[in-house]
Amino acid sequence: MKYKNSRRKFLRNTSLSLLSIAAFPSVVNSATSKKNDTKDSCDETTLDAYGQGPFYTANAPLIQNNQLANINESGERIIISGQVYNLDCSEAIPNTEIDVWHANNLGEYDNFGYNLRGKTMSNSQGYYIFESIKPGLYLNGSTYRPSHIHFKITPPGFNTLITQLYFENDPYIPTDAAASITSGQYDATNRIIPLTQNTSGDLEGTWDIIINGDGIPIVGMNNLHLSKGMIYNAYPNPFVDEIEINYGVFQKGNVKISVHDINGQMVATLNQKMLEPEKYQIVWRPHIDLPKGHYFISIVMNDMQVHYIKVLKQ
Ligand SMILES: [Fe+2]
Repeated sequence: MKYKNSRRKFLRNTSLSLLSIAAFPSVVNSATSKKNDTKDSCDETTLDAYGQGPFYTANAPLIQNNQLANINESGERIIISGQVYNLDCSEAIPNTEIDVWHANNLGEYDNFGYNLRGKTMSNSQGYYIFESIKPGLYLNGSTYRPSHIHFKITPPGFNTLITQLYFENDPYIPTDAAASITSGQYDATNRIIPLTQNTSGDLEGTWDIIINGDGIPIVGMNNLHLSKGMIYNAYPNPFVDEIEINYGVFQKGNVKISVHDINGQMVATLNQKMLEPEKYQIVWRPHIDLPKGHYFISIVMNDMQVHYIKVLKQ
């Protein structure tokens, strides 16, 4: 189980520049041989043992321009994004309400207004993103709670999942009664995500949400994509006027690289052709008027999205 979890993290977090090509064949083999246990390798997002906690306020406003924290808010800027999937990761779920709240840099909640509280929706491809500040610490009894973000996640027509997201290497995770749980219904393992600093100095974290709901088919997510193809990296990221996309095709097929904006609009389709198994590279030079912001670059094989990465245009 541990092995599968870490493999899934590896797949989804897409720090693939670290990936050695030599390691690749064994990964492909193990993914292929485990084809049938998709449920285990696509773990449902768990509840947090602390539930919603004492600081939830209903009816938070919609997050504007993906900015949960005002630009003047103190603290390290943090960008959280991901994709919402159904329980077997065969579908991405659009229009999922993601209600977020967290403490400020000093570990205090706004219990009178809606600062650092807001709702966003997953887009037509199931993606969501918001920018905020890294939450501060606050005492819970005699120990600090680790830095965390609260979530209420509601796919259209399905139940709400209430949970919390934590960050790797937080020294207060081992002593936290909720974040330290590593098995069972409150297992926090997949809710502790790495943060990496981008060249703008912002912290970036990727968290995919797996929840009961109905969506649009994306056959080939979970492990299966490693047997078809993947995007290794895109460079530079963030980029200004052009970005080089390195990707691999593992099975002969009709391949395209497509780019969607955060609203789910396709902004580019690159290189649609029948490709043999090989490593490929393509340079995307978007129109000069393309707005700054986050974009999702995905590899689509035979009309199925098999992998994506997130990039930032500056
Ligand atoms: Fe909290």
